[in-house]
Amino acid sequence: MIDYKILVKEAYEAQKYAYIPYSHWAVGAALLTKEGKIYRGCNIESSTFSPTNCAERTAFFKAISEGDKDFAAIAIVGNDADTPIGEGDFCPPCGVCRQVMTEFCQRDFEIILARDYDDYKVYTLAELMPLISLPLSK
Ligand code: THU
Repeated sequence: MIDYKILVKEAYEAQKYAYIPYSHWAVGAALLTKEGKIYRGCNIESSTFSPTNCAERTAFFKAISEGDKDFAAIAIVGNDADTPIGEGDFCPPCGVCRQVMTEFCQRDFEIILARDYDDYKVYTLAELMPLISLPLSK
């Protein structure tokens, strides 16, 4: 049974390190492996914009580069840097991050979107990425 609240807390911890001099939009992610390990990720921006990496992909790439590839869930938080926790909205993953999720996760992979420590919604990858067959079905 996944403890969503712990994962959301980890995402908020990750968010503190967001490098966001251009957008001021801070995102944190906490990726849970099936073995129970958590990888944190934040968004990292660049003055030339395109090298910017989303928080979700930071967490995935950290995990994969450390040899983990079986994932159960990811919690995501995101808001303007000046917006206090609880006063913002949910921050759904972008299409590029959803595509990366389909590369490494199954249909029942859970995506937790939080706008506060105890205010979150849970989706499956199949819900956020419908009508896709491969490689998600591996
Ligand atoms: N961003 C993420 O890190 N994850 C998302 O799900 C949405 C967007 C980042 C990219 C960029 O640094 C900033 O948020 C504004 O788009």
